[in-house]
Amino acid sequence: MKSIASAPGKIILFGEHFVVYGISAILCSIDKRITATSQFVDDKIIKIRSSLGEFEMNVDSLNNLENVQQKFMKPFFYIAQKAIKENSMERGIEIVIESEIPSGVGLGSSSASCVAVTASVNGLFHRLSKDEVVKIAIQAERTIFEQNSGADSSVSTFGGLVSYDLKNGFQDISSKNELSFIISNSAQVHDTQNVVRQVKEFKDKNTELFNKLCNEEIDIVNNAIISLKENNLVKLGSLMLENHNLLKQIGVSTEKIDFLVKEAKKTAHGAKITGAGGGGCIISLVDDSNKKSTLDNLRKTADCFIAKIDYSGLRYT
Ligand code: MEV
Repeated sequence: MKSIASAPGKIILFGEHFVVYGISAILCSIDKRITATSQFVDDKIIKIRSSLGEFEMNVDSLNNLENVQQKFMKPFFYIAQKAIKENSMERGIEIVIESEIPSGVGLGSSSASCVAVTASVNGLFHRLSKDEVVKIAIQAERTIFEQNSGADSSVSTFGGLVSYDLKNGFQDISSKNELSFIISNSAQVHDTQNVVRQVKEFKDKNTELFNKLCNEEIDIVNNAIISLKENNLVKLGSLMLENHNLLKQIGVSTEKIDFLVKEAKKTAHGAKITGAGGGGCIISLVDDSNKKSTLDNLRKTADCFIAKIDYSGLRYT
């Protein structure tokens, strides 16, 4: 028996980093997915296969997650071991992870993997609700990234266009907007946890400035919610540029990212970093009038693809 589940990647339209400090972010899941397929194996092992390689561990040695050599694999071993223990299983599990999302570039591939793996592994025993899946997925991600806000896993599980804050969780804010984004990959791979740590250092050294930037972010997010309701792409685009400017000030942009944003600005409604920054991707907001010209220009410097909002979130196959 195989248990298959898939979950979408995400982009953050507004509020990355500030969300870690309680400010609302706006994000959406995108039409690019991670699929996880799980099945029982006779040996008491957990085996994980993905494009990053093949990893195998004995279930008992996983009592201490520190035994996992490859840090990025810890969440998946955590999920599988938890399910095996809770269901008093005497066998092991093999998990295959397949991805349409480039990893380490701010598109939520690790959160989407945690969501898909949680649903797929637990589906071998009984299907979990989305609420149950998201709780475990966030715990799993926190085995390697304690400060993670939970925003990425939430939008990947529930899908759509949402606002998210630490206190209230997520809220659907979509008026079924049909937004189109060009995602351009700087090919500068980042480690989200490191970038979040750098921002904390910046905040601790520049408390007053950081508070001022938080207030500016709150205004941007509030105005963005209004612009989304009105489907005002021009206003939304200019708010994205303002948000990019804040991200520059907290030190998470790079020369290449700024260059891509400058080029995008020539034709798109707006553009900005999406996700942690320190490399990764930018998003450019486009519609039919400027999609081709923006894409043709950005493709001179970066790998690009068009993304639309995914409204389904986690799916069992
Ligand atoms: C990463 O996609 C988004 C950050 O805000 C971190 C987080 O929310 O956990 C940088």
